[in-house]
Amino acid sequence: MTISGKPSDPQNPLGDLEEWDDFVKERYPEPADKQALVGTNPEKTEEQFRDYEAEARSSVREFYRLNHRGQTLDFVRQKRDEYLSLSQREMGVWEAAEFLNTLVDDSDPDTDLSQLAHLLQTSEQIRNDGHPRWFVLAGFIHDLGKVLCLFGEPQWAVVGDTFPVGCAYSDKIVFPEYFDANPDKQSAELQTPLGIYEEGCGLDNVLLSWGHDEYIYHVTKNHLPVEAQYMLRYHSFYPWHREGEYNQFTNAQDREMLKWVLEFNRYDLYTKSHEPPDVAGLKPYYEDLIAEYFPAKLCW
Ligand SMILES: [Fe+2]
Ligand SMILES: [Fe+2]
Repeated sequence: MTISGKPSDPQNPLGDLEEWDDFVKERYPEPADKQALVGTNPEKTEEQFRDYEAEARSSVREFYRLNHRGQTLDFVRQKRDEYLSLSQREMGVWEAAEFLNTLVDDSDPDTDLSQLAHLLQTSEQIRNDGHPRWFVLAGFIHDLGKVLCLFGEPQWAVVGDTFPVGCAYSDKIVFPEYFDANPDKQSAELQTPLGIYEEGCGLDNVLLSWGHDEYIYHVTKNHLPVEAQYMLRYHSFYPWHREGEYNQFTNAQDREMLKWVLEFNRYDLYTKSHEPPDVAGLKPYYEDLIAEYFPAKLCW
C-alpha cells in the first residue's frame, strides 16, 4: 500500500499527501515578520484566497470536495470510536516513523522527500533554534498520525485543514462551497455558530474533523507537556490558528496555548529543503530523545 492515491482510486485523489501541504503553504506564505503570524492574514484579501482556490490543482480541489462532504458529525464520532480506544497495534515511536515511511510517494520521486525526512527536517530546525527537547520531539512526531493511511483510511480522513463539526462552518475555511454536499449543512441546529457546543467550552470539548492531528495527540498525550499536546492536536486547525475563527469556543488555556501552536506552525510549513537528512546519523539522538519521554511501545 502506498500513501499515494492511484489515479483510479476516487477516494484518494492526491498524488501524495504533500500536495495538500504544498497547497496550504501557498495559501499561508511565510510573513516577512515571523512574529506577525498571529491569528490573521493581514496581507490576503478574500479575493486573493479565491484565486488560490481557482488555481489549485484539480487533485487538490477533489480532495477538499471529498473532505468537506464526508466529514460529518456522525463520521467524526464513528472514527473516534474506532481509533481512540488505541487498539490497532503497539509500536515504538521510531518504529512508527519507519512504518509511516513505507508509504511511498510515486508522483514526483525526484523532488519530494519521504515522510521521515519531513519529520526530521522539522525537528532539526527546531533543535537548531535552541528550543527545549520536548519541542524537538513534538516536531519529530507531529505527522505520525498519518499512519491512518496505512490502516486503510482515505486521504480526506487523514490530512486537510481541520474544522469543528456540529456547528456552522466558517467561510474562512478553504473551498467553503463544498460544504453544500455535507448532510450536516441541511440541519438547522448544526448550522448555528455554537451548534452542539457551549460558548467558551474549550477546544478540548469541540469535535474537529477527523485526521492525523487528533490521532497522534491521543496516542502520545500522557507523555508530553501541554504545549506539545496543543502543537500536535491543532497543527492543521488553520481556521483557528491562522484565520482567528472559532473563538466562541476557546477558553483561557486555548488562548494561552495559541502562541505555541503558531510557533510550531512556522517549522511545519516553512522548513522544507530538498536536502535529505542523514537518517542513520540522527537516529541515536532521536532514540535517546524518544526514550526520555516515551515507553518502549505505545498503543496506536
Ligand atoms: Fe500534519
Ligand atoms: Fe507536517
